[in-house]
Amino acid sequence: MGMLDISVMKRYIRMADDGWHQGWHERNGGNVTYRLTKEEVEQMRPFFDAQPRPWVNMGVTGANLAGEYFISTGSGKFFRNVILDPEDSLCIVEINEAGDSYRIVWGLKNGGRPTSEFPSHFMNHSVRVAATNGACRVIYHAHPANVIALTYVLELTDREFSRVLWKSATECPVVFPGGVGVVPWMVPGGADIALATCEKMKKYEAAIWAHHGLFVSGPDFDTTFGLMHTIEKSAQIYVLAMSCGQGIRQTIKDDELRAIAKEFGVQLREEFLD
Ligand code: 13P
Ligand code: ZN
Repeated sequence: MGMLDISVMKRYIRMADDGWHQGWHERNGGNVTYRLTKEEVEQMRPFFDAQPRPWVNMGVTGANLAGEYFISTGSGKFFRNVILDPEDSLCIVEINEAGDSYRIVWGLKNGGRPTSEFPSHFMNHSVRVAATNGACRVIYHAHPANVIALTYVLELTDREFSRVLWKSATECPVVFPGGVGVVPWMVPGGADIALATCEKMKKYEAAIWAHHGLFVSGPDFDTTFGLMHTIEKSAQIYVLAMSCGQGIRQTIKDDELRAIAKEFGVQLREEFLD
């Protein structure tokens, strides 16, 4: 029994590999973080390094995440390689009692640091943990091509993207009835994009980063991966339909969206409907 035999590690690695096979992770594109349960931390503790690495200040604070542990992809690491050598590509970090610093307790055996988007992940875990009464555990960022393509042609508003995505596949209003947020183009990796994304994630489970990618959250790997997959598939259908060259002749009407919501017992964000 080793670290890689622990169920949550296996499921994390599978999700990274699934993302690679979807084509969402060219080179080092994308990152994923998972907030471990207390039981999972105790399962893993025997395999932690004898000497944790030094504390690193994050430049952001999440007081409700003090003392938590996360699995993270390493900055510059390729999703394609996670399955081959998880201990080189991944790390486990511990958060300090002030909620403003991390230290690596396992992984990145050849050196490195957690994803450059760790401030965004961390701040958004903080927001989503608060918004979901502690249910949120996964934050996932990827570079799915169709979602990115739409950020060149649609108006960059939450309303416009939510409506197009809801109407491009019938299941969408059921999967993300709250809609999606849109963050304008920003320099990746810093506190600014972290804070702008947080503003969106107070309301939504997903935020589109213009000309960059998609950022989603959820309570487990399946739901979070499924949200990424559903949004990207919907974007792909819209791109395919528009590629036929005659525009959209017919689509799902607003009252039909309301009918789906009623049937499936979900609350659509009414302000996005006509
Ligand atoms: P990292 O390799 O640091 O995770 O960065 C990849 C990325 O997608 C940045 O937005
Ligand atoms: Zn990115």
